Amino acid sequence: MKKVITYGTFDLFHHGHLNLLKRAKELGDYLVVGVTTESFDINRGKLNVQQPLMERVRQVKETGLADEIIPEEYEGQKIDDIQKYGIDVFAIGSDWEGAFDYLKDYCEVVYINRTEGVSSTSIREQGQLLSFGIIGRGTMAGKMAGEAMHVSGIRQAGICSVPGDMAATCSLMDKSDAVYILAEPSRRGMLVREALNRGCHVMCESPVSLEGRETGSLYRHAEEKGLVLFDAVKTAYLRAFSRLVLLVKGGAVGSVRSIDATCTSMQPSNSWFYNKESKGGSMADWGPFVLLPVFKIFGLDYRECTFICSMDSTKQTDMFTQVNMLYPHGTATLRTGYGVKSEGSLVISGTKAYIYVPSPWWRTEYFEIRYENFNDNRRYFYKVDGEGIRYELAEFLRLIRTKGKNFTISSGISQKISSVMEQFMENKNKSFI
Ligand code: CTP
Repeated sequence: MKKVITYGTFDLFHHGHLNLLKRAKELGDYLVVGVTTESFDINRGKLNVQQPLMERVRQVKETGLADEIIPEEYEGQKIDDIQKYGIDVFAIGSDWEGAFDYLKDYCEVVYINRTEGVSSTSIREQGQLLSFGIIGRGTMAGKMAGEAMHVSGIRQAGICSVPGDMAATCSLMDKSDAVYILAEPSRRGMLVREALNRGCHVMCESPVSLEGRETGSLYRHAEEKGLVLFDAVKTAYLRAFSRLVLLVKGGAVGSVRSIDATCTSMQPSNSWFYNKESKGGSMADWGPFVLLPVFKIFGLDYRECTFICSMDSTKQTDMFTQVNMLYPHGTATLRTGYGVKSEGSLVISGTKAYIYVPSPWWRTEYFEIRYENFNDNRRYFYKVDGEGIRYELAEFLRLIRTKGKNFTISSGISQKISSVMEQFMENKNKSFI
């Protein structure tokens, strides 16, 4: 019996896929089809797959052409499969011409002519290309524009880099289905409301506003209008970080007693934020990042939150802040700073072990669970492509498409981030050094 194998994502199954499977089947007597898993696709930079694995498997099964369907989960699996399933022919579309010649050491390799004029990408983009406007300037706005190119389904509507110019801002909102807002912290809440009023889905740098109640009201407003309001703390959407949270929740380190997180850099990323009026500063900028692991792990009901702060006397903004938080069974020490150099690590200490995420932890790629006996230590690595912004962008798009709920940064977390900022801005429980 001649055995053939082929692989693909098979998202939004189309006639190009069907032709490919028919031709692959004709090459032998038995066809094995490898369907990629979500994490394999994310790993190879394919972020926009719409259907879950089981749905894609079902579609392949319904063609009646596959004798066996297997998941493709890791790089290098093809060689393993060829040996394991006793494969004679490896078949794949001609868009991969040459890419799999290395498999010729193991079996025959056939490139099948691709069907012209159809692809999952083009179907994904049909009629649902989201026009995306960027409101803000500085490094993050530029990075967002670059990263948006890696997430299919987005058409850039433009960049408004003078956020003070309301006429230009509103005109961009009017031609966008969704906007990304990176304005000074003091103007964000107002801009989010304006964008929602104009029917735009909103992705906003955190904090969404500087008042807890205002942020809560913006989420309710978005919900009433059927729009997505998305708090853009990019770390939350990185696979390594979400895996870390799941491990902690699953008891990998025992009961968590303390969280220590530090984010500092020598220069502010958007120096034009940093004056009294804009309410920028190290806390407004880095605060949402250091608060993220605390709210994800300890929850929202802290007993106490105090600040120790060093100010720039001319600009009257904070250049270094330490936040001390007290929970019923644990504590958090968080540090944010500009012009202060420190180790940007995250340490989560528990009754069984601790998690160490090296600098820069907010771009989480790698972490370790460390035990008393170092032979028990475990290491985790999940690659981050580009600036890491594309993952939150892909999730923003998914929420718009599915009208789903954001469990990663819930409205509750977002509101709490704003409440801490509010307390900070009002100088509550604050000491100065
Ligand atoms: N394929 C094909 N003809 C098409 C589209 C895909 O022959 N018009 C083949 C691919 O070459 C591959 C298999 O179908 O061997 C599965 O491809 P997949 O990447 O899942 O489909 P695409 O439509 O190319 O998906 P995307 O646009 O997301 O890259």
